[in-house]
Amino acid sequence: MSFVVQTVAADRLPDLLRRMPKAELHIHIEGSLEPELIFSLATRNGIALPYADVAALRRAYAFTNLQSFLDIYYAGASVLITSQDFYDMTLAYLRKAASDNVVHAEIFFDPQTHTSRGVGMATVIDGLHRACVDAQAELGISASLIMCFLRHLSEEDAFETLEQAMPHRDHIIGIGLDSGEVGNPPEKFARVFARCRELGFHLVAHAGEEGPPAYVWTAIDVLKVERIDHGVQSSKDALLMQRLAKDRIALTVCPLSNLKLCVFPDLASHNLRELLDAGLAATVNSDDPAYFGGYINDNFTQTFAAGGLQAQYAYDLARNSFEASFSGAAAKRLHIDRLNECFETFR
Ligand code: HPA
Ligand code: ZN
Repeated sequence: MSFVVQTVAADRLPDLLRRMPKAELHIHIEGSLEPELIFSLATRNGIALPYADVAALRRAYAFTNLQSFLDIYYAGASVLITSQDFYDMTLAYLRKAASDNVVHAEIFFDPQTHTSRGVGMATVIDGLHRACVDAQAELGISASLIMCFLRHLSEEDAFETLEQAMPHRDHIIGIGLDSGEVGNPPEKFARVFARCRELGFHLVAHAGEEGPPAYVWTAIDVLKVERIDHGVQSSKDALLMQRLAKDRIALTVCPLSNLKLCVFPDLASHNLRELLDAGLAATVNSDDPAYFGGYINDNFTQTFAAGGLQAQYAYDLARNSFEASFSGAAAKRLHIDRLNECFETFR
């Protein structure tokens, strides 16, 4: 990396991690729904929840694996009905992100979770998009949308979803793949991703969160994605690590998610440092911050404390986030200049 960073005292690192400008590239907007907002939207929409109050809902957030989380996450999203609901959720996330010095966010959304309940694609995208526009004006944060296909559903269903989204394609920068990974390999979606590629969308996919390195290989070679979401299982395959490093295929790593879904037993055992030391373009992100106990800066500060990571890693992670983003070249340059200035002037 071109920029050499001075050592920073351990007690000053959290301040640096908070202050440094960063991009968030792995955030499911439905996973930013805080229990308080779930309850207030349920009231607004006359929906009965199977939990007595916010505290009871929070107590249910004890996950053992990805599927145990997804069951509750999809149930939580059922309070989203109107365009205003999607707007309120997204603006709340962007305000929180901006306070963490996120200057650019690429936001996942799961339309099938909503269209399958009778909520229209236009309702979903209109609310999300208006919040992105207003956040730019209010907070100076840029945000774009990545539409994810649910991999536990069929490829035919994904094609149908793509068709429904086409009138709104100007509001979508990329296509992703999420939901239950094991048993739903990337190649299940080969044809729909090929179509999305022809249409000019950026492509990403969740792979190697719980699934094997083979899924990361097929995400790259069959789906031809530009980034891998999670990808932490890649460290089990030396050849794959070399490929990811050589082609600078970024990993959007989410340490607190991995902790809460029992992918690693504790943060000290997380392999973020190993990925960076192997020359991979890893980034740090929050995934589903309302469910996993922290937003992006909590992910940074807790992972750095547990792993004893130094300021050079902070710089490299923030720089990777801008380089791996789908912003234009001029915006990337501006963000990296600001990042350099932050590190040059930090005392
Ligand atoms: N993995 C897969 N699907 C998801 C996730 C995740 O971490 N979060 C929301 N949907
Ligand atoms: Zn995710």
